[in-house]
Amino acid sequence: MIQLIDLRSDTLTKPTEEMRAVMARAEVGDDVFGEDPTVNRLQEKVAVLFGKEAALFVASGTMGNQVCLNAYTQPGDEVICDYNSHIFNYEGGAPAVLSGVQLHPIPGKRGIIDASQIEAVIRPADHHYAHSKLIAIENTHNRGGGAIFPLQKMQDIYKLAQKHRLKVHLDGARIWHAAIATGTPLSKYGKCVDSISVCLSKGLGAPVGSVVVGSADFIDRAHRYRKIYGGGMRQAGILAAAGIYAIDHHYQRLADDHRRAKQLADELSRLPGIEIDPAEVETNLVIFKVDVAKRSPGNWCRLMKEEDILMLPFGYDRVRMVTHLHITDHDIDVVTDRFKKM
Ligand SMILES: Cc1ncc(COP(=O)(O)O)c(C=O)c1O
Repeated sequence: MIQLIDLRSDTLTKPTEEMRAVMARAEVGDDVFGEDPTVNRLQEKVAVLFGKEAALFVASGTMGNQVCLNAYTQPGDEVICDYNSHIFNYEGGAPAVLSGVQLHPIPGKRGIIDASQIEAVIRPADHHYAHSKLIAIENTHNRGGGAIFPLQKMQDIYKLAQKHRLKVHLDGARIWHAAIATGTPLSKYGKCVDSISVCLSKGLGAPVGSVVVGSADFIDRAHRYRKIYGGGMRQAGILAAAGIYAIDHHYQRLADDHRRAKQLADELSRLPGIEIDPAEVETNLVIFKVDVAKRSPGNWCRLMKEEDILMLPFGYDRVRMVTHLHITDHDIDVVTDRFKKM
């Protein structure tokens, strides 16, 4: 059987044998009654890691972000975010559908927005305007090529939010990567936002699930929205067990994914027809720009597929590759060779 090297996403990983064994043995109960001991253990663990009072296990990163938006806002409110953010681009217009809010996207640099930009768009108290309620940031930033949101900038945004009585939500689908790459304790990120949605099913390699953290009162409200969205799961401990295993066994190893991504970027930067700055590859996402007049992103991906390598066209002139649990040092050598050949 041909072994494909699948670099399209870190969401493609399959549970390892060890993870499956832990899932099979998980102690379970009805989580809608709050009686699944493994879900409770996961929630307590993640709340402690981020230094928050409480946590809620949810089905996906999208559900995590959206229960938070709903819990913070009323219809007609406004959420300030970066224009390349996941909540603005990839969640099906959910903020409008589920919360009746509008997003106010502002241009970030590789997804990073700063306090002065935000302050300039906060709405004054006037009946013409939507109410500015929430600032949503993303760390690491997906469309920003895995860019790390600097802690100082997050702290500045939090200070600004408090001055204007706004809340700050962090889409931390890949906050694990930012923490490993910078050596920042997860609790420090927890201190400068009101809530975080973290994913277990991306770099950490669990099959399903995300966790939202925040104050006890906030998590109680988010819990109600999880129910409204149909996200109350019963013996979900089988899934939560995978999440606990993923945090315990796959978190520290993210440094290997970062090293491999950097190596790939270094190699690609020496090749003609590809534009990439290896200094911008800070975590596990490698996005390169192509000359569309010569070969479109779709064509790059088709040609590499013939070489048993899968990558993702990423917009008009870019291609994305992601290192993850199933990508080895040898795979990086193979991919580099195929690129050189092409
Ligand atoms: C930054 C970010 N936030 C949220 C999500 C949504 O996660 P899910 O696919 O689990 O809904 C993703 C998915 O890739 C993501 O990259």
